[in-house]
Amino acid sequence: MTSEDSAPWRRDFPALRQSGEEPAFAYLDSAATTQKPQCVIDAVTRHWTGGVGNAHRGVHRWALRTTQALEAARADVARFVGARAADEVVFTRNGTEGLNLVASSLCVERVRTRPRVVVSQIEHHSNLVPWQALCRREGAELVTLPVDERGDIDFDQLRALVDERTALVAVCHVSNVLGTVVPVPEIAAHARRVGAWCVVDGVAAAAHLPIDVQTLGCDAYVISGHKVYGPSGIGAVWAPREHWANAPPWQYGGDMVTHVTAERAEFQQPPHRFEAGSPSVDAAVGLSAAIGYLQRLGHVAIARHEERVLSLLVERLRANRRIRVLGSPKQRVGVVSFVVDGVHAHDVGSLLDAEHVAVRTGHHCAEPTLQRFGEQAAVRASVGLYTSASDVERLMQALTHVEELFA
Ligand code: ALA
Repeated sequence: MTSEDSAPWRRDFPALRQSGEEPAFAYLDSAATTQKPQCVIDAVTRHWTGGVGNAHRGVHRWALRTTQALEAARADVARFVGARAADEVVFTRNGTEGLNLVASSLCVERVRTRPRVVVSQIEHHSNLVPWQALCRREGAELVTLPVDERGDIDFDQLRALVDERTALVAVCHVSNVLGTVVPVPEIAAHARRVGAWCVVDGVAAAAHLPIDVQTLGCDAYVISGHKVYGPSGIGAVWAPREHWANAPPWQYGGDMVTHVTAERAEFQQPPHRFEAGSPSVDAAVGLSAAIGYLQRLGHVAIARHEERVLSLLVERLRANRRIRVLGSPKQRVGVVSFVVDGVHAHDVGSLLDAEHVAVRTGHHCAEPTLQRFGEQAAVRASVGLYTSASDVERLMQALTHVEELFA
């Protein structure tokens, strides 16, 4: 790949168009949040300008139109993840709220009868802290599933730790720090053999990998809108109907009830039982447009492009003797994290910004992952479908300037 290779879909993203004299922003922070394509912006604008009501809360035409838009978005998300039915998808505010829902409702009864929760060592805090809280509340044991020095799950440990006492094993589909693609089908198959569930944080995966929850064989899968070129303020949880059926509500209020007296309430069927309060229909409409956009481009074409850019990025970083890349997973997508010898990650990030290069710095909300590699902070560069080889070259050039300053 040469630096002239450009990202074919970059022109779909108005924010990435060069304006005036400023150099174009080399945006290498898509794992934190993605830029938005014009079709998503247009879909949300159309939704607003067409007249909005509140979903499930009105009989006038704009309320009905809004309800339809929400439920159509649910069906689109269901197809996107390979669900059997739209009502297997619950909307949340984001991925973190999705994992909190899974830990606070879906899995509570299980943990009471099988008092062990196994969580991988490379989780975002959102797929760790809710399990810590649940285990503390229910008196269950929380066990860490380690990764090896490459950043891959240790399968001997998986077999040893996930046993008949285990309620669930919680893993990411892709690590937001290392980019490790976690072999969910194998983990879920082992979990199933011993009667445990497999809960998957798909937030860092959904923009890069095709998702089919049937093939993955998992029991819950969580995504976030703003990580897949959609708006923020929307996430979604998939779980099979039979898991939702007996799960208790976890937030209370409007629209999650069927009948209320001054003393008590009766609750809706899933998914509405888990969606208290006015839903973010605007964001659901945007998410649906983003999913449509990804499907039109096709995962294979996106993956082919991103793989070329990411390989170039990893290769260029590895060639620099002052840089240590964290992990070398068997399969990596989306991100690479690294430290620059003698320079704090935050200093690197600020100096890169001065050269119009965006990366994320710090612990990336995944402190145990950093600790596994003996670090407290790292620089993370991440790619999206619009990332080009010249973004990589801009990063490498700016890193050379950082090194010169700290020579
Ligand atoms: N989870 C997001 C990240 O990895 C915020 O940057």
